[in-house]
Amino acid sequence: VTEAGSRLGRRRVLQGTAAALGGAGAGWAGAAVSRATESEPSGSERRPTVLSPAAGVETEPFVGAHQAGIASRPQAHLSLVGLDLRPGVDRPGLARLLRLLSDDVQRLALGDGALADPEPELASSPSRLTVTFGLGPSVVDRLVPAGRTPRVRELPSFSTDRLQPAWGQTDLVLQICGDDLTTVAHARRMLLKDARSFVASRWVQDGFRRARGSEAEGTTMRNVMGQVDGTVNPSEADPDFAGLVWVTEPEESVGATAMVVRRIRAEMDTWDQVGRQGREFAVGRRLDTGAPLTGTREHDEPDFEATDRLGFPVIDPASHVRRARSDDPRHRFHRRSYNYTTTAADGREEAGLVFIAYAADLEEQFVPIQRRLAEQDRLNEWVTTIGSAVYLVPPGVRSSSGYVGEGLVG
Ligand code: HEM
Repeated sequence: VTEAGSRLGRRRVLQGTAAALGGAGAGWAGAAVSRATESEPSGSERRPTVLSPAAGVETEPFVGAHQAGIASRPQAHLSLVGLDLRPGVDRPGLARLLRLLSDDVQRLALGDGALADPEPELASSPSRLTVTFGLGPSVVDRLVPAGRTPRVRELPSFSTDRLQPAWGQTDLVLQICGDDLTTVAHARRMLLKDARSFVASRWVQDGFRRARGSEAEGTTMRNVMGQVDGTVNPSEADPDFAGLVWVTEPEESVGATAMVVRRIRAEMDTWDQVGRQGREFAVGRRLDTGAPLTGTREHDEPDFEATDRLGFPVIDPASHVRRARSDDPRHRFHRRSYNYTTTAADGREEAGLVFIAYAADLEEQFVPIQRRLAEQDRLNEWVTTIGSAVYLVPPGVRSSSGYVGEGLVG
């Protein structure tokens, strides 16, 4: 077998393996690729290495009881788009829009172009693309017949909020996530193009986590402040998850959820002046491992009663983790946040968190925690909420001919 022949054979094996392994095998297939490339010739002999599209071929199902992009393991990229309906778009108009976009998403999530996609090749690597649709409270009030949804209201104001209207509530939201930015950008362009006669886009909040494959699967993300962020977070594997996240009534909304978006700026210039100990004290966890200050490993249970030699609590009662935990187990939700960085018009760098959380009932579950944090949280000195919005996230589609929101506006 010639060298070229053996390389082709190996490529086929790797691609086949990746496709067969699907979601769970991507890490393994990635490792196989690196091992295989180690034996490549070096220097001038070296030809371009063909890597297996292990992660690119993976898909997230569009059809299901719940929309994708909520319980799905977070992808590397986020593009969150806030949209306002154009004047005159009524309930049948909204239904047409949701049908059109659902059809596009279904195709794009499989790696096919959208309908009449001028650049279908850009869609060919689905990379676990998900698009999650949300309806703002005023759209629910105006266009969804009464009794079909639970109540979703805008959040009360909190004393620490410094909200900028530019990042405010919109009529609709599309949370576009994927492991590849080209795929995400293409999906966004196709969706906005098809939605153009129905909506105008008000804001886009792009966000990122570590690139797929740069860390072991399941590693908790780090936020821009350097903290391990997301350790105590109900995930689909937890028995409590379904009860905390999915709406159970009325019937038309079974499987729905509510989404809160908070754009939180991190004051990096002043944060950078705080020593490591001060940073850990503010959160109540270690920066290196994410372990609570009373433990050694990330998932150790914090001991809020523990005191030091002088009798002071090891985890400060005003630390973020202490304040973010209430005694009421119903005051919990699923966080699915992304980092952002951006350059303002005056050239100043800004960084922060596109904080996203899902709960069956935001008023009952989320608001009490946000209120506790606004009242007291050491982290408040270095974080400022500049945007806020909430959405009802309709249930998933039951068959490939259905569309998101069908039971609400159909
Ligand atoms: C930029 C702003 C924020 C930063 C940097 C931040 C950072 C962190 C970090 C490092 C942890 C510890 C690790 C973990 O369990 O995830 C944590 C925990 C947590 N945060 Fe935040 N957070 C922010 C905003 C918020 C907001 C706005 C809320 C909700 C209103 C929130 C709710 C929570 C909850 C519920 C926990 C878990 C607490 C527990 O141990 O039970 N965080 N956060």
